[in-house]
Amino acid sequence: MSHHPAPPAVAPGATVLGKSGPLFPTSPVRVGPGLDPPGAEGGPPFGPPLSPASYADSFAFPFCPDVSKYERVAKVGQGTFGEVFKARDRRDRSRVVALKKVLMDNEKEGFPITALREIKILQLLRHDNIVNLIEICCGRNAAQNKSTLFYLVFEFCEHDLAGLLSNCNVKFSLGEIKKVVQQLLNGLYFIHSNKIIHRDMKAANVLITKQGVLKLADFGLSRAISISKSGQPNRYTNRVVTLWYRPPELLLGERNYGPAVDIWGAGCIMAEMWTRSPIMQGSAEQHQLMLIAQLCGGMTPDVWPGVERLDLYHKIKLPKLPRRVKERLRPYLKDQWAVDLLDKMLCLDPSKRIDANDALDHDFFWTDPMPSESDSVSHFVLPPLLPLYYSRFRQP
Ligand SMILES: Nc1ncnc2c1ncn2[C@@H]1O[C@H](COP(=O)(O)OP(=O)(O)OP(=O)(O)O)[C@@H](O)[C@H]1O
Ligand SMILES: [Mg+2]
Repeated sequence: MSHHPAPPAVAPGATVLGKSGPLFPTSPVRVGPGLDPPGAEGGPPFGPPLSPASYADSFAFPFCPDVSKYERVAKVGQGTFGEVFKARDRRDRSRVVALKKVLMDNEKEGFPITALREIKILQLLRHDNIVNLIEICCGRNAAQNKSTLFYLVFEFCEHDLAGLLSNCNVKFSLGEIKKVVQQLLNGLYFIHSNKIIHRDMKAANVLITKQGVLKLADFGLSRAISISKSGQPNRYTNRVVTLWYRPPELLLGERNYGPAVDIWGAGCIMAEMWTRSPIMQGSAEQHQLMLIAQLCGGMTPDVWPGVERLDLYHKIKLPKLPRRVKERLRPYLKDQWAVDLLDKMLCLDPSKRIDANDALDHDFFWTDPMPSESDSVSHFVLPPLLPLYYSRFRQP
């Protein structure tokens, strides 16, 4: 018997099965070219290595519903990793979903790791403040050789926070801001209790339904927190989180970080509820650190013991400025509790930064005006008014 090329270690979808069952089924028949003769039914012929797209094309996905069950309505987002469409269930036209296309083009290693992570983690996380992944669908790309495409099907959310904040006709009362931030922290409390870090907190990844329910979305960069058995520190990548929302520990090269990275991002988002644009818009890592120092003060061992062991601490010259968080935010935030909570969320030392649980107990949420019920947030239902806002929801 001749030797055939070994099948790839992982079949498309093979690593995505969580305990909750096959949302994204593995190939029912085989995991690769296997031992079938060239050109055998369903298997790819032998020859040069297949590109990821053609690799996926060589399989049938009988348990993966066809995306044609949904009718596309409009393109609503263009993410780094794929396009997002609003679509309607053809059998029940009142059911509206978001289809996030998985970009297969640039993948050298098969099904994109970001989509695998997103699927695997979202399968585990079911919560009112986490976007609900309904199913995975597959389809064929009519333009490109009918190659196989995959879509993540989500419940549809009418708004994202970046869109709402950039629309000056959308006004938030203090009670409504409290409701938004409370739901954001509720979502984070839930994922952090489940040992997941989001790692891409930003206003565009915070969705809001027409009922005013906030949903944390875009788990493409998220990961599980590993508990190292050997006592060795974790060595995660620190090239995560969109620059403007990236905490100082990541910018200084920390690789053994934790949920506090999301709290920093949540703090930036919370401040944005008043300032209406991102509070620290750095042009590069070093500039971002400078902006953080100007707001939160110098990153020195007296305020942050252990900062001196971070890779970039000695390489980057940072000014020793005083902390001015309260002073600089007060003109925007009249509420003293809001300023106090933000000061704790934007704490330089991640080990002293407030966690989601304590943040939810903060007086900000337990003093008048109380977080207002979603009913009073329902003015979000008003059609978008600005061209800028329209542009986020335009047809392709
Ligand atoms: N369930 C949904 N309902 C409505 N709109 C959505 C939904 N999911 C995503 N979107 C829109 O599509 C945009 C991109 O989606 P998402 O953030 O999941 O993709 P991404 O490729 O990971 O994005 P990026 O790299 O830009 O962060 C969102 O900012 C949002 O405007
Ligand atoms: Mg996103």
